[in-house]
Amino acid sequence: MWALLLLVSLAAVSAEPRNFHGEKVFRVIPQNAEHVELIKSMAQTEGLDFWLPDSAQLVEQGKRADFHADGHVSYEVQALLQQSGMPYEILINDLQDALEKQRDSNIRAVHSYEKYNDLDTINAWSANIAAQNPGLVSRSSIGTSYQGRPIYLLKVGKSGANKKAVFIDCGFHAREWISPAFCQWFVKEAVSAYGVESEFTSLLDNLDIYVLPVLNVDGYVYTWTTNRMWRKTRSANPNSTCIGTDPNRNFNAGWCTAGASTRACDETYCGSAPESEPETKALANFIRANIPAIKGYLTIHSYSQMLLFPYSYSYAVAKDHNELNAVAQGAVNSLTSLYKTKYTYGPGGSTIYLAAGGSDDWAYDAGVKFSYTFELRDTGRYGFALPESQIKPTCEETMLAVKYIASYIKNNA
Ligand code: ARG
Ligand code: ZN
Repeated sequence: MWALLLLVSLAAVSAEPRNFHGEKVFRVIPQNAEHVELIKSMAQTEGLDFWLPDSAQLVEQGKRADFHADGHVSYEVQALLQQSGMPYEILINDLQDALEKQRDSNIRAVHSYEKYNDLDTINAWSANIAAQNPGLVSRSSIGTSYQGRPIYLLKVGKSGANKKAVFIDCGFHAREWISPAFCQWFVKEAVSAYGVESEFTSLLDNLDIYVLPVLNVDGYVYTWTTNRMWRKTRSANPNSTCIGTDPNRNFNAGWCTAGASTRACDETYCGSAPESEPETKALANFIRANIPAIKGYLTIHSYSQMLLFPYSYSYAVAKDHNELNAVAQGAVNSLTSLYKTKYTYGPGGSTIYLAAGGSDDWAYDAGVKFSYTFELRDTGRYGFALPESQIKPTCEETMLAVKYIASYIKNNA
């Protein structure tokens, strides 16, 4: 009897994660202004969750858009699309189904490079890999999240005087799980290649590579416990019941001027001020404190298969445009050589859309010349529900691009 009561009350406190049963992901290509208007108005009335672009405001005629619709509106959305004559496709018929297939098993005790790991597992892994590789890997914390979690940073490289550095971060947007998986993969490759493989050995002898596995730690935890589709931070907003700021709209780079929202309920909310979030402030403080050593800044997102460089807050051409473009081309060629994965590259504003307040633009203007955003696999077949079977090939090919950029920096920066 008491055991039963205990069970019942436990169930009541540990809320079930949101279930996405019957919810669909649509891809549309609006052909005219009416189609664009329909998407924007449906976004309001039906509460669509935009996957690509990041919000309905960024939808454009002739460009594809992917969005996820709640279970009870999926049929209505489909009927409206049908009526409008807009070309559409159902990318995912049942999101819950796709999410369950994304992971091979729900029971996870140990860390694996070919699985998605929760935050506790990632934190235990980072402590361990630093302990196992003294003199090559060390761990520190750059600060604390809104909910009080440490934000860990690994420094990878042999100690030396006046080393140049490259900074790589993952896990800005909580639901982009392939991103933290890549940061873990990178550190594994570094420790196993050092002293064995000449290119990587030379990289780590000459560069310090900072790897931040999960920046938006609160959001990441939330995607594991409560809502797999969460994107933003988890900070409270005064005068709103909506939670969170988009960390990649929260930097002081044309802050909130384009492709960002001033409404707390939106997925691209820019926050109450630049660096209003403890996570973005901690990152910016670390980079500011380590300029001019930091020559490269790589921030890893998903999905789209793109390599972007400044600017995204305007169409202005970066003063290093030609070199940034040439390095992007070399990195993409190297990536594609492995599995023929197609990538596009170019300045963010003209390659995807204007979106101000991003960390790449901020780092560039702060003096980090080689500043890039990666959008990893895929192009929307699975989107954020990328199966674990794709972690290995995605990380392997991405390694080639990252090593290309790091080598270029080692030799030229
Ligand atoms: N999907 C990414 C985002 O919207 C792209 C970032 C590109 N850079 C930028 N500064 N907007 O956050
Ligand atoms: Zn992202």
